[in-house]
Amino acid sequence: MADMDGFREASDFGIGQAAGAAAFHVKGASSLGWGMKDRLSRIFNPATGRTVMLAFDHGFIMGPTSGLERIDLNIVPLVRYADCLMCTRGILQTSIPANVNKPVCLRSDAGSTVLTELNRNVLIDIEDVIRFNASAMAVMFSAGDGEREAVTAANLARAADLGNRFGIPVMGVTAVGKQMARDARYFALASRVCAENGASIVKTYYCDGFEKIAASCPVPVVIAGGKKLPEKEALELCYRAVNDGAAGVDMGRNVFQSDAPAAMIQAVHAVVHDGITAEQGYEMYQELKG
Ligand code: R5P
Repeated sequence: MADMDGFREASDFGIGQAAGAAAFHVKGASSLGWGMKDRLSRIFNPATGRTVMLAFDHGFIMGPTSGLERIDLNIVPLVRYADCLMCTRGILQTSIPANVNKPVCLRSDAGSTVLTELNRNVLIDIEDVIRFNASAMAVMFSAGDGEREAVTAANLARAADLGNRFGIPVMGVTAVGKQMARDARYFALASRVCAENGASIVKTYYCDGFEKIAASCPVPVVIAGGKKLPEKEALELCYRAVNDGAAGVDMGRNVFQSDAPAAMIQAVHAVVHDGITAEQGYEMYQELKG
């Protein structure tokens, strides 16, 4: 029983003031439950609605990728500059200190390597997603890719079902089959299908006409960086993407394969969140590198 000595009668009821119902800062998420919104808020900065995810899940299909040979040496020093970490449970458990206090977008499917074609990918157990306190699950969708389209669509839909049950958003990762044209029509279709199947975030690629991809996708779209570019070009890619409607980046090689990864991720962060130009970002990169 609470101590009632000195009990103060409730009196400040704010009569006449409407109950607060602030707009939510993540596209398409207004009707989601509190847990989903909380997790999305860890990923997308409430002040900008954007995110810089640091992607280092490449090893799950590629093995010890250049720049990811030693996660403890290559990636851990960059973690402080990222808004969100995208990686597998194996790397999280073995190589990322649990006290970095960053949201994790956990790579939640598995099943093939670069040594074969993408084949029968499966989902990891939702219990492991919860155990790792993931803020989102990243699941691949391979649109237009013969038999793999159905398998990956089923994985995505299943992940969304499980995510809805436990309040964990899904990021649909648009995989590009070797035969597919990397154009706005294709990425708009793949992105939209991810959202229609329950993804709360979509990761895709930047291309001409990107504004149509972002506009026709009812959830935030983040772009992958793709193969390593000169730093200035990579910053231009970030700048164009956010100006054409991307809610940020999920960038890997253009950060961890940079000559100065810590400088690069800080420059990317400033382009994404602070509205600086690619040129200004490049100056910042050079200053920090120097
Ligand atoms: C690819 O399998 C991974 O999902 C990467 O996380 C993604 O492609 C982003 O990395 P990058 O910027 O190197 O393309």
